[in-house]
Amino acid sequence: MVRKFTGEELVVATHNNGKLRELREMFGDRIAKLTSAAEYGVESPEETGTTFIENALIKARVVAEATGKPALADDSGLCVNALNGAPGVYSADWAEEPGKPRDFYMAMERVQAEMGDNPDRSAYFVSCLVLAWPDGHFESVEGYVHGTLQFPPRGDKGHGYDPVFVPNGETRSYGEMTQEEKEKTSHRGDSFRKMLAKCF
Ligand code: IMP
Repeated sequence: MVRKFTGEELVVATHNNGKLRELREMFGDRIAKLTSAAEYGVESPEETGTTFIENALIKARVVAEATGKPALADDSGLCVNALNGAPGVYSADWAEEPGKPRDFYMAMERVQAEMGDNPDRSAYFVSCLVLAWPDGHFESVEGYVHGTLQFPPRGDKGHGYDPVFVPNGETRSYGEMTQEEKEKTSHRGDSFRKMLAKCF
């Protein structure tokens, strides 16, 4: 049976203040107290899973066990159909080189190079959300947005792979949209709405 969140406090498994602020806005007054793993001094675990749900579960469980409170974690990435779903859970890794800050222009170039002239330009973003309780129970949802990849990258808004991702029904890339415009169609908006409907 699906378990509902009934407590006062929910701990978000993140050290990113932007993410926490965004969630505070989305939850509104549905949650009395939204705190973060950083406030409890819980360090981020290594993401050793091979699926989005495994990684989100690893992050949520560590925080629920350390704080004794329900915890919410997310994991997301870009899946390219012509690349059999890559970079997928390794989306951030493709932007990494030892000793250097993350470079998503390098990651987007790698995607373009690996796609070559494959006519299938379709791709989707996935956002997996896991709500875990200290007793081990968890609930999960996945949100999606489907679109095509268009090179070269366009727009300086957004982050990660946004400048090459054009959601279906749009002509602009996510890099050319405001955060508000993007959230209406994004994988994160979708997974958040699904989690709200399921557990809140
Ligand atoms: P994580 O879920 O914080 O581990 O992030 C995974 C990676 O997926 C990010 O670093 C980005 O590379 C990519 N990603 C996830 N969501 C988006 C998005 O909305 N736009 C662009 N890139 C994204």
